[in-house]
Amino acid sequence: MTRDHVSINRDIWNADAANWVEVGERLWGLETPEWGRWGIPDEGLNLLPPDMTGIEAIELGCGTGYVSGWMTRRGARVTALDVSAEQLATARRLAADHGADITFIEGNADETGLPDSAFDFAISEYGASIWCPPATWLREARRLLRPGGQMVFLGNHPLSLICAPIDGSPCDLTLHRPYRGMCGADWTEVDYEPTGICFNLTISSWMALFTDIGFDVTGYQELYAPDEAFGTRAAVPASWARRYPVEQVWHLKKPE
Ligand SMILES: C[S@@+](CC[C@H](N)C(=O)[O-])C[C@H]1O[C@@H](n2cnc3c(N)ncnc32)[C@H](O)[C@@H]1O
Repeated sequence: MTRDHVSINRDIWNADAANWVEVGERLWGLETPEWGRWGIPDEGLNLLPPDMTGIEAIELGCGTGYVSGWMTRRGARVTALDVSAEQLATARRLAADHGADITFIEGNADETGLPDSAFDFAISEYGASIWCPPATWLREARRLLRPGGQMVFLGNHPLSLICAPIDGSPCDLTLHRPYRGMCGADWTEVDYEPTGICFNLTISSWMALFTDIGFDVTGYQELYAPDEAFGTRAAVPASWARRYPVEQVWHLKKPE
């Protein structure tokens, strides 16, 4: 499962970066954040603190950088790290277009090389949160946070993985994979929209990992598609995601 996931995923994201420019441009232009595949408004979810004035924040796997852009607008000083030079090129251009002062770093979220306890807030939306082994990147994120620092991450709900056919075609109502022992999936060789190597855990394994690493859980959210959603996004049909949780959000705190 961990077969050189970093270089495999880096190559895939470099090759795919051009396909993310348009969505990045749209999300950079939003007045208020929206999250995940179905663009759930931040209202009620509160993934970002409303006022981030003076906060040192880091985004781990920033892609086109719109989450970092939203954080600068709320007053944070932001560092945005990504393993893909091509994704970062888009992020840098969009930050310049929007007048956002962000420190971009090309690097691996598993091992950032950044100093201990340098940040108050860390976030990952479909970045390290799915593309890096949880035990590795979360340990690194905790190291980067100050005592009392907060970590928020969004990724695929485990249910969406076990309902995903092995060939990569859209989720359906069959349990295609075992839940027990879940650790993620290699999508590089699938027939339908191949992509990289992703990681996920059962809920009890996530909880055990947070305890082991030393994070307190301050919130957990399961996201569904809105009632009016239609079509299929990233191999999940709206009809599925209206009834079953497609994404999960963990809110964690490094104890004081
Ligand atoms: C879907 S994007 C998510 C970021 C952002 N929310 C977006 O949608 O543009 C996934 C990003 O994770 C990055 N990534 C994958 N593996 C990584 C790693 N080991 N370290 C840092 N970034 C990584 C990819 O390069 C890609 O830009």
